[in-house]
Amino acid sequence: MGQRSKWGTNRGFLLAAIGSAVGLGNIWRFPYVAYENGGGAFLLPYFVALLTAGIPILMLEFALGHQREASAPKAFRLIDPKWEWLGWWSVIFVMFGIELYYIVIIGWCANYMVFSAFESWGNDANAFFFDEFLQTSTASEDGSVSAVWNIGTMRWRIVIAVAIVWFVNWTITYRGVQKGIERAVMIMMPVLLAITVLITVWALFLEGAKVGIEHYVTPDFSRITDLKVWIAAYGQIFFSLSLGFGIMIAYSSYLPRDANIFKNSLIVGFSNSFYEVFVGFGVFSILGYMATQQGVGLDEVVTQSLGLAFVAYPTAISTLPFGQLFGVLFFFLLLIAGISSSISIIEAFTSAVMDKFTLSRKKIVTTLCLVGFFGSLLFTTNSGLFWVDIVDHFLNHYGLITVGIIEALIVGWLYRTDQLKSHIVTNLGLSGTRHRLFKYVVLQLWLYSVRFITPVALGIAIVHSLIQEFRTPYEGYPISGILILGVGWVLVTHLFAFGVSGLPWQKTPESES
Ligand code: TRP
Repeated sequence: MGQRSKWGTNRGFLLAAIGSAVGLGNIWRFPYVAYENGGGAFLLPYFVALLTAGIPILMLEFALGHQREASAPKAFRLIDPKWEWLGWWSVIFVMFGIELYYIVIIGWCANYMVFSAFESWGNDANAFFFDEFLQTSTASEDGSVSAVWNIGTMRWRIVIAVAIVWFVNWTITYRGVQKGIERAVMIMMPVLLAITVLITVWALFLEGAKVGIEHYVTPDFSRITDLKVWIAAYGQIFFSLSLGFGIMIAYSSYLPRDANIFKNSLIVGFSNSFYEVFVGFGVFSILGYMATQQGVGLDEVVTQSLGLAFVAYPTAISTLPFGQLFGVLFFFLLLIAGISSSISIIEAFTSAVMDKFTLSRKKIVTTLCLVGFFGSLLFTTNSGLFWVDIVDHFLNHYGLITVGIIEALIVGWLYRTDQLKSHIVTNLGLSGTRHRLFKYVVLQLWLYSVRFITPVALGIAIVHSLIQEFRTPYEGYPISGILILGVGWVLVTHLFAFGVSGLPWQKTPESES
């Protein structure tokens, strides 16, 4: 049996973990969620969520992976064999769900990098995106087939980009932890930071930027008592920090024995949030600029996710001085932010398989990327956009949140909580009475968050989503689409998780418990 891979340096680990956390979600999701939920006042629930769920669960995942030197399935198995499926479920639904369409969206960004150079969208970025680029389907003429099932054909431009993005992912993960991922993030993350600072500062100086920023930060404190605002805060923190993905467990399993879990969690948690709050200033400056150019109110130009990146930004790029350059840089930024996230789940899945079966990394990674490529094709058809929308909604609202709740409950209440608790501060290097008191207080807060706050907050979020689901079908999609793509995806990945956890171990999982 070969030695477990290791990071070359703690900095390499930090960059990889931050690379996983900082992704498309930070750039196009956070600013909008903040704006929708009270602007500046949203920062309060948001930071409460970071401190009471984000960082505590990050500490939990880091400590779990590091202490057991194990990927998610093995780490949970070492807690109790009956929880092995939970680890498999997280890596399976992220790898064969979120990852498949996440890479398709990165492929769109790659296309838009090229389009930016020529401003190919002309003067109607909206029509270009939906009608020309995606060629989004509509219901059949007699109405018997809805748009979701009116699949049409694969869009070749997207297929080619998706193939390239998978290939890049493969070349990085194939080389392993130190020579592949660590080397890649050592280059990608400084570039990511440089471009972010450059285009954010650029945006801040645009005419009208102030209007946008005012809307972004003006606190609307009346919203703070709204339950929805709090749910949005916990949801954003969870997705943005890649919690419940099995990724942070795998990444920390490659740390040397003397790694400082406590410090690492704080650095990753705060960097990710700092990044998204910062990016928000750039995003809102651009929106303010657009509103000013068009002489309309800000609320008319504010959109989220796909609309922001593929419609609002292109529109702004067309009128911006040096717009083409801005566009190329912006989509390149999305591309690297996306890839540094997408490699992380390939690694998490690979390490899960390597822990249990006697297969080589190279074989696993190659098979995974090939299967992944074919899986991604499902999202490249004329109905792709709807498929992305439905699968994304269900996996994020039910998959991630369920894993988060169970993870917090089993670690907080059932098994060896004290052991894990003390592991968090093992290498903190503080001694003396004052420091002992500090450790005690911090760990009590951690325990309280893991036992009560996280499960309750996520529990409320999931019940709230379920009620919405039964009230109105998500976004008005046909029931067949919701059941097959949404509910189906959640259940089938679950079944696979049970299947794989039932297979016999080719390596010895119990040896280290
Ligand atoms: N945290 C990332 C974001 O904010 C999302 C992400 C991390 C992700 N790892 C991933 C998505 C792996 C898909 C696959 O955007």
